[in-house]
Amino acid sequence: MNILVTAGPTREAIDPVRFLSNRSSGRMGFAVAAAAAEAGHAVRLVAGPVALETPAGVERIDVVSAEEMRAAVTEHVAWCDALIMAAAVADWRPASVSDQKVKKVEGPMRLELERTTDILISVKPLKGPRIYVGFAAETGDPVPEATRKVTAKGLDMIVANDVSRPDAGFEVATNAVTFIESGGTMRHIDTAAKTEIAAAIIQWLESQSRQA
Ligand code: CTP
Repeated sequence: MNILVTAGPTREAIDPVRFLSNRSSGRMGFAVAAAAAEAGHAVRLVAGPVALETPAGVERIDVVSAEEMRAAVTEHVAWCDALIMAAAVADWRPASVSDQKVKKVEGPMRLELERTTDILISVKPLKGPRIYVGFAAETGDPVPEATRKVTAKGLDMIVANDVSRPDAGFEVATNAVTFIESGGTMRHIDTAAKTEIAAAIIQWLESQSRQA
C-alpha cells in the first residue's frame, strides 16, 4: 500500500522569535511510519518540527505550520491508499503575524487567535476508497469524544488515548490506546511501546485492505 502519515506538532508564528505549539514529540507518528516501511509499504511522512531521525525507507516532507501541513497532505493524499493523521495540528493560530519582534509593554498582552483549517475535514471529499485513520488525544476517558470524532471527521478508525496518564501520550515511549472503528468495533491495547501500537495499526490497515 501507499501510506501517508503525519506526525509531530505544528508551530504557529507570533513574530520572528515566538510561536504557539504543543507537547507532541512526533514519536507515535514516526513509529507508525517506521512500522509501515518495515512491513514493505511505500511511506510518505509529513513531519512537523521534531527532533527525530527519519525512519529507514521513508520519504519525509518537513513542514512547520498547520497551513503548510494542510497543503502537504492535500498534495500527497491522491497518491495514498491510506492516510494516518497522527500529527497534533494546532487548532488556532495568531490572527496576525508581526514581522518585527513584538516589544513588551506595561500591563497584560492580548493575543487574538483564529481557527486553523481542520485537515481531515478538508480532505474528506478526496477520500474515495482510501482508508483514513485519525488520532484523538483526550484528557480523561477518551472513548466518548473519540467516538464523536470518528463520525464527524469521516474516518474509518480513530486511535484514542488519554494523554493525562503518565504512561501514555506526549513525550513517553509508551501509549495505551483504544482503536474505535466507524462501525463501533473497539479494541483496547493497554500500556505498550509506541512501536508495538504502530505495528498493530499497520496490521489493522492490512486487514482492512484485504477485506476491500
Ligand atoms: N486534525 C486535523 N486538523 C486539525 C486538527 C486536528 O486534521 N486542524 C486531526 C488530528 O491529526 C487527529 C484528529 O484530527 O487525527 C483529531 O485531533 P484532535 O486534536 O483530537 O481533534 P480536534 O478536532 O482538534 O478536537 P479538540 O481539539 O476540540 O479535542
